[in-house]
Amino acid sequence: MTAAATRGSWHIRLTTPRPGSSRGSAAAAAVEELLRFDGPVELATWRFASEPLTLGGQRVERGDPVLVVLAAADRDPARFPDPDRLDLGRTRNPHLGYGHGIHYCLGAPLARLEARAALGELLSRLPGLRLAADVVELRWRGGLIMRGLRELPVVFTAEPMARGDGASAM
Ligand code: HEM
Repeated sequence: MTAAATRGSWHIRLTTPRPGSSRGSAAAAAVEELLRFDGPVELATWRFASEPLTLGGQRVERGDPVLVVLAAADRDPARFPDPDRLDLGRTRNPHLGYGHGIHYCLGAPLARLEARAALGELLSRLPGLRLAADVVELRWRGGLIMRGLRELPVVFTAEPMARGDGASAM
């Protein structure tokens, strides 16, 4: 799931103009915004109404299935100013990319850590990273709840590591 998020994030990152720096602490805000803008979990899992209720003018009877579209909620203009704009520096970002309530994602802290580390390192080490395919050629995996790219072809020029960077003295 984290790999799907990272691939999807890279797709957006590489097809969107670079707005200033997204390194270091900015990587955290960028990861949250990428999850809000196009997270890998579009729908929450099935819920069933425990009592009759009315949701958005729609009558839901006891036992009826309800599928919450997290991705739509994350573009709610009442919740997010200018919701269809990818703003990697967005400061207030109460997105539902990891769900909400008692089923809130147990792996969220791990996923956040991995995504921040991966995106931060890649951006700083491979500044020339770019897509190696037309956007229309990218293939997405099917699936009701989760989405993600099958693969994300990129090209880059590896930069030589600075002296002492990651190498241990013998
Ligand atoms: C970017 C990566 C991830 C995203 C976007 C994500 C998203 C979500 C979402 C939206 C839910 C709630 C589903 C619902 O309400 O029906 C969820 C639940 C869950 N996630 Fe994640 N997840 C990620 C990574 C992980 C990882 C790395 C783990 C485990 C190491 C994990 C474990 C779980 C578990 C166990 C639940 C079910 C919690 C429950 O039902 O009480 N997730 N995740």
